[in-house]
Amino acid sequence: MVKRFEGKVAFVTGAAAGIGRATALRLASEGASVYIVDVALDGLEETSKLCEQAGASVVSARCDVTSEEEIRSNIAACVERFGRLDTLCNIAGILLLDHFDNITVDQFRRVLEVNLVGTFMLSQAALPHLIESKGSIVNTSSTSALAGMPYGAAYGTSKGGVSALTRTLAVEFGKRGVRCNAVNPGSIQTAMSGPGVVPDDADVALIARAAPLDQARGPEVVAAAIAMLASDDGIHINGEEIRVDGGTLA
Ligand SMILES: NC(=O)c1ccc[n+]([C@@H]2O[C@H](COP(=O)([O-])OP(=O)(O)OC[C@H]3O[C@@H](n4cnc5c(N)ncnc54)[C@H](O)[C@@H]3O)[C@@H](O)[C@H]2O)c1
Repeated sequence: MVKRFEGKVAFVTGAAAGIGRATALRLASEGASVYIVDVALDGLEETSKLCEQAGASVVSARCDVTSEEEIRSNIAACVERFGRLDTLCNIAGILLLDHFDNITVDQFRRVLEVNLVGTFMLSQAALPHLIESKGSIVNTSSTSALAGMPYGAAYGTSKGGVSALTRTLAVEFGKRGVRCNAVNPGSIQTAMSGPGVVPDDADVALIARAAPLDQARGPEVVAAAIAMLASDDGIHINGEEIRVDGGTLA
């Protein structure tokens, strides 16, 4: 495997499972030191072992992305431990699919809090260090930011915000050497896309509209796109989103 991240430090959220774990492992395998966070500590421990087996220096820690205090102390701890920060991968997220009328205001706020406000707070805490290293941010948006996702009023709105935030940071910080990009996964095989996420009485035709043309793939296909954007291979890519959806929205 090419080693695009030798000497680099990556901070990865949502690293206990799915796309976050696959990304941490990909960056670790390519030479990065990784600071991995999540609220699911058992899964995080497993990811930590996998990254160590790949030869990386790893720190794993609890960080709830809705807590500004936990975010700031973990970013500080990362820089304290590794001396720099080159890549922030905002991957932690939650999904809520339900009929629009059933979604409560509290549920709507919670989805925005984790998916969007968390991404905002992490970016704000990391940016001074990224300016120093001329590093980059890769956010995790979704195809639901690009096309209507049935039952995804809260989720799609949060991801639309992530996409807009990505472009904003790209233009605001590009001249200071920091790039900000995003991926838009389609249906990827993780716990998030497992059984029970769609309401029982969902309209199958509506869901089919959002289904991938190809078979769903595992999280490593998204990790590969994130790694490209974070690496020097993506050096002239800023404010871009890459769909990783097997062509569903082509
Ligand atoms: N799987 C898909 O089909 C798909 C499609 C589009 C976008 N995405 C996005 O990809 C990202 C990763 O999702 P995944 O599919 O790997 O799901 P996943 O459920 O396997 O992983 C999400 C991780 O985020 C963590 N998390 C949740 N709330 C958190 C919080 N408050 N603080 C810290 N960590 C928290 C979870 O513990 C979990 O480990 C999410 O942002 C998701 O919206 C996934």
